[in-house]
Amino acid sequence: MIEKISKPDDLFVLALEEMAKATGTAKHEFHTFTLGTVHRGFPYLRTVVLRKFERECVNILFHTDIRSAKIDHLQKCPQVSLLSYGYKLRLQVSFNGVAYIEKNPEITQYQFENSSEDAQKCYAYGARPGSILHSKTKEELQPDIQSPLTSGQLSTAKDNFVVVRIVPDKCDILCLHHSGHIRVRAKRTPEGWVSDFITA
Ligand SMILES: Cc1cc2nc3c(=O)[nH]c(=O)nc-3n(C[C@H](O)[C@H](O)[C@H](O)COP(=O)(O)O)c2cc1C
Repeated sequence: MIEKISKPDDLFVLALEEMAKATGTAKHEFHTFTLGTVHRGFPYLRTVVLRKFERECVNILFHTDIRSAKIDHLQKCPQVSLLSYGYKLRLQVSFNGVAYIEKNPEITQYQFENSSEDAQKCYAYGARPGSILHSKTKEELQPDIQSPLTSGQLSTAKDNFVVVRIVPDKCDILCLHHSGHIRVRAKRTPEGWVSDFITA
């Protein structure tokens, strides 16, 4: 990998290529990433699945429940950070940007319809994510929710399902190597992304 990097943009492009590959397979080390939000001055972190990576505009999409805490956080403070680390890839990629609920209903519908039945089912439950349960699992409370979902359950699932779009404006990439780590910082400018080598 290191041989392919002669200018800062080479590492930036390589990182974007790995992000793009990761949407296609759960085996890819970047298939999940850590999403950081800020709420009332405190950072909150959680894992989410990278569902789509739009290479041209460098946008990152994931799915979640509209009732979840992260949605409340990002509606009040849209500034987010995300982190991917690949042990085998020896690559860390971090983005900073803003996140918002996808407004294009066609994208949301496409993402929902192309989710597995099991993934769709997660959104069909009445209990809000993070609410106290008087049973061990939400599945125990509503055993009638089974795939294939009824039309009513499907409609609840669709109502709770959202796509979150992250529009990054900064990217920090660290490529680990025994002869010296390579680190690049890339920034979005009106003319496009501009990257520099920085001290690792
Ligand atoms: C491997 C893995 C993948 C996950 N993927 C998602 C996801 O794509 N979307 C999501 O909302 N939660 C996902 N979760 C659950 C979140 O990490 C988190 O527990 C949940 O969304 C509640 O977060 P919140 O209370 O901060 O909103 C995943 C968890 C793990 C361990």
